Amino acid sequence: MKAKVLILMGSDSDLPVMEGTALVLKEFNIPYKMTVASAHRTPDRTLKLVKSSEKEGVQIIIAGAGSAAHLAGVIASHTTLPVIGIPIDSSPLKGIDALYATVQMPPGIPVATMAIGKAGAKNAGIYAAQILGLQDSRIAKALKDYKKKMAAEVVKKAKKVEKK
Ligand code: RP5
Repeated sequence: MKAKVLILMGSDSDLPVMEGTALVLKEFNIPYKMTVASAHRTPDRTLKLVKSSEKEGVQIIIAGAGSAAHLAGVIASHTTLPVIGIPIDSSPLKGIDALYATVQMPPGIPVATMAIGKAGAKNAGIYAAQILGLQDSRIAKALKDYKKKMAAEVVKKAKKVEKK
C-alpha cells in the first residue's frame, strides 16, 4: 500500500521516541514510511524526501527532532502538506530547546507541534489519524473505538484504586 504518512527524524538516536508514532499508525492500519533526514546535516536529502513523498501521494509529514530542531519548520517551508512536529528530549535542555524551535514558527508557515518526547510522538500518530479520518470513515470509526477503549481503561484503573 502507498504511504499516506511520512515520518522523518533528525537522527537514528530519535528512533526510541519516534517509533511511538509508527506504532499508532500501525494500530490504525495507516501506511507510512519512516526514515532519517536532518535539516542541518542533510538539507538536500530532506528536501528531496519531501518532494518525492508529495509526488507519491503522502498526505501528512511528521517530523521529530531534538536540540535546535528546525526539521519540521524546514519541511513546512517546502510543502503545503500538513506538518506535525515532535520536539525530542535529546539535549541537555531536555527538549525545551526543540519545543521552542518547533512551535515558534513565523506567521504563514505553521507546524502542528505536539508535546515533548514520547507523549508527543504518540499524539502525532493520533493527530495524523484524525486528519486522515476526515476523509476516511474506517479511520474515523477506529478513532471512536480507540477513545472508548481508553475511557474503559480509566474506569478499570479507577476501580482498582478505589479498592485500596
Ligand atoms: C538532532 O540532534 C537530532 O534530531 C537528535 O535529536 C539530536 C542528536 O543527534 P545525534 O547526535 O544523536 O545524531 O538533530
